[in-house]
Amino acid sequence: MSTHTLGLIGSAAGGLENIRTSLVEPAIARGWQVAVTLTPTAGTWLEDTGERERIEAATGLPCRVAPRMPRETSPHPPIDCFLVCPASANTVAKLALGLADNQALTTVCEAIGTQSVPIVVFPRINAAHARQPAWDSHISALERAGVYLLTGDEYWPLHEPRGAPAGKDLPWSKILDAVDAVSRT
Ligand SMILES: Cc1cc2nc3c(=O)[nH]c(=O)nc-3n(C[C@H](O)[C@H](O)[C@H](O)COP(=O)(O)O)c2cc1C
Repeated sequence: MSTHTLGLIGSAAGGLENIRTSLVEPAIARGWQVAVTLTPTAGTWLEDTGERERIEAATGLPCRVAPRMPRETSPHPPIDCFLVCPASANTVAKLALGLADNQALTTVCEAIGTQSVPIVVFPRINAAHARQPAWDSHISALERAGVYLLTGDEYWPLHEPRGAPAGKDLPWSKILDAVDAVSRT
């Protein structure tokens, strides 16, 4: 039986603290094997709470943060679909510009270039991030590259910084529905 592996990339934005219970375990329940890679800042956040270890226990794979040594092989299997969630404004901008200065960005930048598997990105941003003068061109560049961007009120209405309603959560099921949909095409 073939295994479908979801490469989940987490960056340092709201919702990261819940990715195991809200994305990893539900994706496994949907039939995915999940391989998680975190940006360095996201890695420190989930190391601090013990979630990195719990993600490894849930997935049975290392939760990557640092790049491998040249003598080492990749600890993750080949990926069938990437999901960048939550994607900070910083990580979206770097992806659009092709900046690959950490393991998470290296992996997704290469996937954007090879065009071999679908890439879904959920930008977890606020209205100020979206008004940054380069934001629209970053989004356009990623769309032209075939990246599936989960944006708009349907996914994440933009609030001013610190203006989101208390307890506002990411639309986890809709995000996984999008992953399943693009993986079927
Ligand atoms: C508590 C906290 C919450 C944050 N939430 C967000 C967020 O929801 N979206 C965002 O774009 N940046 C957010 N940031 C800022 C990013 O963490 C920061 O830009 C960081 O450099 C992103 O790094 P990364 O993209 O490499 O993970 C937050 C920062 C802190 C300290």
